Formats: sequence, structure tokens, C-alpha cells
Amino acid sequence: MHDLSPRPGDLDPVETAPLDELRALQLDRLRWSVRHAYDNVAHYRRAFDEAGVGPDDIASLADLARLPFTTKATLRDNYPFKMFAVPREDVVRVHASSGTTGKPTVVGYTRDDLDMWADVVARSIRAAGGRRGMILHNAYGYGLFTGGLGAHAGAERLGCTVVPVSGGMTQRQAQLIRDFEPDVIMVTPSYMLSIIDELEAQGVDPRSTSLKVGIFGAEPWTNDMRREMEERTDMHAVDIYGLSEVIGPGVASECVETKDGLHVWEDHFYPEVIDPVTGEVLPDGEEGELVLTTLTKQAMPVIRYRTRDLTRLLPGTARTMRRMEKITGRTDDMIILRGVNLFPTQIEEVVLGLPALSPHFQCHLDRADNLDSLTVLVERREGTSAHEAALAQDELVRRIKESIGVSVAVQVVDVASIERSVGKMRRIVDHRPTR
Ligand code: DLL
Repeated sequence: MHDLSPRPGDLDPVETAPLDELRALQLDRLRWSVRHAYDNVAHYRRAFDEAGVGPDDIASLADLARLPFTTKATLRDNYPFKMFAVPREDVVRVHASSGTTGKPTVVGYTRDDLDMWADVVARSIRAAGGRRGMILHNAYGYGLFTGGLGAHAGAERLGCTVVPVSGGMTQRQAQLIRDFEPDVIMVTPSYMLSIIDELEAQGVDPRSTSLKVGIFGAEPWTNDMRREMEERTDMHAVDIYGLSEVIGPGVASECVETKDGLHVWEDHFYPEVIDPVTGEVLPDGEEGELVLTTLTKQAMPVIRYRTRDLTRLLPGTARTMRRMEKITGRTDDMIILRGVNLFPTQIEEVVLGLPALSPHFQCHLDRADNLDSLTVLVERREGTSAHEAALAQDELVRRIKESIGVSVAVQVVDVASIERSVGKMRRIVDHRPTR
């Protein structure tokens, strides 16, 4: 694989600033952000008043913990524009979540916000090994989803030649990769797998393409998936994290030279990890729910937004800023099966340990006689025999029981029989009756 490590002078000075300087900058910005939210958003004024804490009480970063949380429900209750802290005329763009579970959540950006967003995405692409002048194939969906336009603006900011493909039309994706010879691809990891399959179907060895690095995010993926992807494509596989409520992609990103978790761009987003049940702030190193506060956002500041994503905070390595470990899953994607908690990422790790199985899998939940059951559907790899597939099926049941401690059913199915995503993959299909 190519050496894409940064050269001297490549980085923003703030990425390697001494910690005390960074903390001082954060405190300044936090005080501004809390004041801005309190003065301009009715919800924050009410919530802070109820908690008996005001902007003047924020004398240290630790004081942030005295403020109440913001949740997805807060944003829904204030649908569509009531969380905006600037006149609507100053909002130059909105994005929204898909709204499959109720009203969508709407987010807004001023021109300065779009500028900051482009900066943090440019920084993320550079951390992944992208450079000015490279060709970048962007297969994140364009539209209300923040992935496409967010990645696009960052790539242009860095000075890449952007190919704005968006998601879907997989044959054309593969053809464009062959014809335009991009250096970088930005896409969800599950959709990358479909593109790899399509390249193979077109008779192209995915290791022989021009791609040097893939920047994968918008859904959980494991280090085992990284290995799978890097082996099959001979490119670096690097993680990017973000969420619309906070800005979009570019809240945190991995560095290609270390690939040891995602540096949170702490000059703009302040991370905390809390116990999801008690709401108590946990010390760095302990796993819990990630909570984010924007430090510079104008149109829609978010204070202590509960992401529902589970991770832990770790000290900086390639950059001064703290890292978050790869996300295990969302609290709402946690499957509780006969008292055992499990996430699709744990299944992914076990599946990828068996050479006869492909990384295409899906978890189906059922209920019979008041008892929940989980069936893992997983495709066999191209070229495996029926006998090998049957052996892998039994072995997967055994390994899941051994490593996660729960009995599941496994069905190894034919190549290309599990639905493919062109964006975020639906890992859990819940057939249980809703109560
Ligand atoms: O998915 C923003 C994004 C686009 C990030 C492209 C990275 C690349 P939302 O649609 O609002 O925004 O979904 C946010 O997706 O709370 C996580 O649960 C999940 N997620 C995003 N990035 C990662 C990642 C975009 N790298 C939600 N690993 C978040 C695991 C991720 N989960």
C-alpha cells in the first residue's frame, strides 16, 4: 500500500497544538456557544433555566456537565426550524434525516458553518492520506443526507478533483473507477463491498485499481472489515465519523499513519462519554454513549447532544486531539437476546473469521411463544462448495455462542441473495410484533 503519511507543513497548526492551548481555546469557544444558544434558542433558555444553570456558570470545561442534555426528541419537538439560533434568512442550507421513525430532524447552516464544515472534512480527508490534486470519487448520497454534499465541499476545499457520483448505479461506479482512475473513494463500507463485487463481476481485480485510500463512514464497521477491505483492494481503509445534528461527516477521523481510532476535531466539537443509563460523565477510557457539543456552529448550536453511539475516548496519538474508538454500535441497535446484549459489529467480527463466508450478512429478529430469536443470514463466498458452506454454518453458530455467549440460528445463503445497500446497510431486520 502507498505511503500517505503527512509531510512536514501538511497539517493545520491546531491539530498538533499543545493540550493546554487547545483546552483554553475550547473553553473560550464553549462559553460563546452556550451563551449563543441561551440567548437565541427558546428551548435552550427554558431548559437551562429549569436546570438552574446559565451561560455565566461555565467557568471551566467540566462545568459543561451541569447543563442538560439535548436529544433527538428535542429536535423533533422543535421541528422544523425552532432550534435555529440565527434569523432564517441567514441559514443558507438545510439538511434532514430520513425520518423513517417519525418526523425528520432538520439541521441548518450559515455560510460560516458551511465554511467550517468544509474545513473539517478537508482535514479529515488529509488525515486519511488525501492531498490536493488527487482525484476523489464521492459515492456518498447527495441530497438531504449530509454525506454527499459534506464530503464534496471538503474535497473541493482540499483541492481534489471531485467526481460527484452519489450512491447507486453500481455498474457505473465500477466503470468510472476504471476510466477516471481516482486516488480516493468516499463511500459507506457496506456499499464499498458492493462496488468491489461489481469490479470483480466486470473482470477487474480490485487490487489493481488506481485507488489508494477509502474513507468509510456513516455506519459501524470493524477492524476485521478493515482487514478484509485492505486485502481485497490493496488500499488503505480509514474511518470517518459524524452526524447531521452536529454537522455531518467530519466530526472525527482516523489518520492513515496510525489507524488507531478517530481523532475528534476538538477545536469545533467537544466530546464527553456518559453512562447511558445514569447520564453521569465517565472518565476517558471508559465505554459509554458519546455526547457532543458544538463550539463554533452559528445556525444550530447543539449543547450536549446525545448521539446514542457507543465508544470510549482515548488520548491523542498522531494528533494532539483525543481519539474515539471505532463505534461498537448505537444504543438503539443493541439486540437483547435472552438477557445478553449484542451488536451487529460483534457478529461481523465472527463472520469475517470464517473464510467460507462473505461479509454480506443480516440479523433477523423473530418472536415465538414470547421468546426472541436471532437468525443470522450470511452469504457464502463465491467459489465455496455446498459442503464448505454447511461446515461454516455450524462453525459460526459455535463461535457466536463461544464469543458472545448466546445461541443464534445461522443460515448460509447463496451469493447475492442478501439485499445490498447503496448507503447505510440495514443490518437488523425486526420481524417481532410491535407491542
Ligand atoms: O451518517 C454523516 C456521515 C456521512 C458520516 C458520511 C460519515 C460519512 P447521519 O445520517 O445523521 O449522518 O447519521 C449519523 O451514523 O450517529 C452513527 O450512528 C452513524 N455513523 C456515522 N459515522 C459512523 C462511523 C451521517 N464512522 C449516525 N462509524 C451516527 C459508526 C457511524 N457509525
